[in-house]
Amino acid sequence: MNKVLVQTIGLTKNFKDRKRGVIEAVKDVTFEAHSGEIFGLLGPNGAGKTTALRILATILKPTAGTATIAGYDVVRDPDSVRRSLGFLSNDTGLYGRLSAREMIIYFGKLYGMDSDRIEARLKELCDLLDMSEFLNRRCGKLSSGQKQKVSISRTIVHDPPVLILDEPTTGLDVLAARNIVSFIRTARDQGKCVLLSTHIMGEAERLCDRIGIIHNGVMTAVGTRDELFDRFNADELETVFLRAVGEAA
Ligand SMILES: Nc1ncnc2c1ncn2[C@@H]1O[C@H](COP(=O)(O)OP(=O)(O)OP(=O)(O)O)[C@@H](O)[C@H]1O
Ligand SMILES: [Mg+2]
Repeated sequence: MNKVLVQTIGLTKNFKDRKRGVIEAVKDVTFEAHSGEIFGLLGPNGAGKTTALRILATILKPTAGTATIAGYDVVRDPDSVRRSLGFLSNDTGLYGRLSAREMIIYFGKLYGMDSDRIEARLKELCDLLDMSEFLNRRCGKLSSGQKQKVSISRTIVHDPPVLILDEPTTGLDVLAARNIVSFIRTARDQGKCVLLSTHIMGEAERLCDRIGIIHNGVMTAVGTRDELFDRFNADELETVFLRAVGEAA
């Protein structure tokens, strides 16, 4: 049986907003994701995907509930959690004046890796993400697809067991997106736990081993594609989604 690497129990996050009052961004979300698995959080804009991922990445504290990464509690043991995961956010920054290579080496050093290990990892990531053509170019001059590849590399240079990717292919062309999708599959096949968010039904359907449908902060259904098809008597994910959301309404 594959190891549980991500676990949330009753995870809840409220934001207080002066105009909107209390926003329940994530409500009582419970799920697990395992080694060797791609788990997708599928939901529309504002569903709570980014908020849930940011809690797991120790950037936000939950209002209630618990979460662990590789067995470490995100509130009690954030340093161990950060060593165990790589988090790609929508605003993962790159320093425009550093080359892609320098950027990845810089983050390797921040993670305390020695030069030999960083070089080996750089080569591995360069091959997996097809970066050789632009590795020596400044980040500021890269296309958005190239930047995304460097951002992914710098977040996982330390080769963590858990990859948390917030909409990893959004805004990318078909070729760049395909390369990242195949990279994600390779990571899964190497035994990583990949947790990603998407609002693209087709991507969730093609890529994810299990899918959690999230809407208004609530995880309304979880399962493999076929389990969801069965449960909602559907033959496409869009129907599952509409029925899952309707059920919650
Ligand atoms: N820092 C914050 N302060 C107040 N409200 C917030 C904050 N961050 C998120 N929210 C609110 O929480 C809810 C969930 O937002 P979140 O960014 O998690 O959604 P999402 O599923 O990632 O959406 P998208 O697909 O647009 O990225 C939204 O109503 C959002 O406005
Ligand atoms: Mg988001």
